[in-house]
Amino acid sequence: MSENRENWSARSGFIIAAIGSAVGLGNIWRFPYVAYENGGGAFLIPYLLALLTAGLPLLFLDYATGHRSHGAPPKAYKQLMKPAEALGWWQVCVCLVIATYYAGVLTWALSFIYFSVGQTWGSNPEQFFFKTYLQTTDAATFQWQFVGELFYPLALIWVAVMLILYGGVKKGVELANKIFMPLLVILFTILVIQAVRLPGAAQGLNAFFTPNWEAMMDYKVWLAAYGHIFFSLSVGFGIMVTYASYLKPKTNLTGAGLIVGLANSSFELLAGIGVFSALGFMAHSAGADVKDVVSGGIGLAFIAFPKIISSLGSAGSVFGILFFGSLLFAGITSMVSILEVPISALQDKLKWGRKKAVTLVGGGIGFISILLFSSVNAIKLVDIIDHFINNLGIVTGALVSIVMVSWFGRSLMREFRDHINAISTIQLGRTWEFTLTVVTPVVLLSTLVLALNALISKGYGDYSQSLQVFFGWGCIVFCALGALVMTKIKDR
Ligand code: ALA
Repeated sequence: MSENRENWSARSGFIIAAIGSAVGLGNIWRFPYVAYENGGGAFLIPYLLALLTAGLPLLFLDYATGHRSHGAPPKAYKQLMKPAEALGWWQVCVCLVIATYYAGVLTWALSFIYFSVGQTWGSNPEQFFFKTYLQTTDAATFQWQFVGELFYPLALIWVAVMLILYGGVKKGVELANKIFMPLLVILFTILVIQAVRLPGAAQGLNAFFTPNWEAMMDYKVWLAAYGHIFFSLSVGFGIMVTYASYLKPKTNLTGAGLIVGLANSSFELLAGIGVFSALGFMAHSAGADVKDVVSGGIGLAFIAFPKIISSLGSAGSVFGILFFGSLLFAGITSMVSILEVPISALQDKLKWGRKKAVTLVGGGIGFISILLFSSVNAIKLVDIIDHFINNLGIVTGALVSIVMVSWFGRSLMREFRDHINAISTIQLGRTWEFTLTVVTPVVLLSTLVLALNALISKGYGDYSQSLQVFFGWGCIVFCALGALVMTKIKDR
């Protein structure tokens, strides 16, 4: 083990931090709206298949990669194959990009805890969210217009996250997870129990759990499922490699992986149950169909929940605080893990101390994040960047890491399997090797080609070319350049 490398106090510290990383905005904010946009019931089966054929197999691979190398992705991949350091930096850059908008959405959650108290959105939550709060304009280009109400909470999020990261692995990341995760479980359990008791909840749950075979023929539903699973599990962009690198040598990796995977999907399903129950309640109140009660998209949680809160009278405020509080606690622990990747990678490469790494990474990316996400462009940029970075950035990083091990380093696959099996209770067999060698690469390659084709031929949503080129493709170019430049720099 590297002499000065930090580590978790115990395996339980790692498990709670890994769950804290996996369970985040992806589960509570992203999953319900992606499921809603993809036909509700149509989404669940592709999601579960994506979990089994790509998410979990890669989770184990990420664990083994980090655990064997005691390094963040660039160092870890370089040990496998020298040029693969670039893949590590690609994943680091993906994390930097995600961190910018992740903080933006956390800001909305923080503000909405406050808005819930006085139900500030009044009678029209949609108008309030887009126009009054985010001050979104119809402009097709980037607007240099600053929104003060977004600036302060966003700055606060960055300060809080950096303070946690200054504390280091044990006293910062692990401690924060040990505080926030139990709080999250309590808040979220109360919330879901409340939600399923709402009148009309059954109507929403039917929409969520009834498979829609016809919609499943649409390849976009499958793209959405594969595009979501890595983000949700925190795999394929370096987080689990980094977290596993802080583990002690003898650690039951598969046991930990299964707990994390199960906890993450349970949370996701619970979030789906909570949100769809709430949508059912809205449909019931409006005498409409679940799919017609609210416009989908990334605003779903911030529009649907206020509507429900208002209709519950003063008890609604508690409901709102629970929901947005859960979103905030879940998101903070994931945000910490996203930033830990570049921090750890720079410490490995340039031998920076933690203080310096946190200050430069947090300060630099925090500045860009504040510049972009306390402007009137916030929601458009969240949507564009999230789409490009999930469907191209993460999927590419995941695919290359798998293909490198399974196709180009045939004995590596066996070495990884032996490494895991020597220290784990549940043994990985040929199925795992076969899945990663054949099933996952084929599925991911098809996903990537389809996503690329759709983006090149039709673009994304009805955003202007300039926004898509600059912020969508721009992020992908940033990752590629970052990978090239950082690989060229000599290790210290
Ligand atoms: N896994 C984290 C989430 O789901 C990034 O939000």
